Amino acid sequence: MYVPKEIEKILFTKEQISERVKALGETLTREYKEKNPLFLCVLKGASVFFCDLIREIETPLEIDFLRASSYVGTDSSGKVELETSAIPDISGREVVLVEDIVDTARTLSLLKAELSGRGALSVKTVCLLDKPSRRVVPDFSADYTGFEIEDLFVVGYGLDCSQRFRNLPYIGVYKT
Ligand code: IMP
Ligand code: MG
Repeated sequence: MYVPKEIEKILFTKEQISERVKALGETLTREYKEKNPLFLCVLKGASVFFCDLIREIETPLEIDFLRASSYVGTDSSGKVELETSAIPDISGREVVLVEDIVDTARTLSLLKAELSGRGALSVKTVCLLDKPSRRVVPDFSADYTGFEIEDLFVVGYGLDCSQRFRNLPYIGVYKT
């Protein structure tokens, strides 16, 4: 198996991720059955999770993509950059925002606030990973979470460090 030297240890294997994504898919299938939800992927980090997740959902749905970024290297910059011009028309829709990881929660809370003013029937959030100990936005949590983790910098399965390691099929702890 390909494990770059920067990876300290594997936190979740491909199999563990796949099992959890399947379970999330079952929950979301029940929740959104025949509601024609719009799944929005927060690029780039959530892309791998998103593509696996939507294929575990057994009801008609639509997809679209948004871009947001805040991290510089292994540190949160504190400033979220969001491409608002790329936000699709969501009025009257059941919207599900899909993010890779909730850390300070600045990104997902800002995105949720931005989308909530645009006439959607509902805006819910899904994240693969959650680092609750890192919160800056108090009391924010995603509606659906894959795994809670400690305060570790992780890469793989879409998550990067300066754009690297997104292609790893597992989630690993980055040596800082
Ligand atoms: P937040 O706005 O601080 O919650 O940050 C969320 C964004 O920071 C995520 O979408 C990721 O892109 C990035 N991020 C936070 N923690 C990690 C990590 O451990 N590895 C890679 N990216 C991370
Ligand atoms: Mg991200």
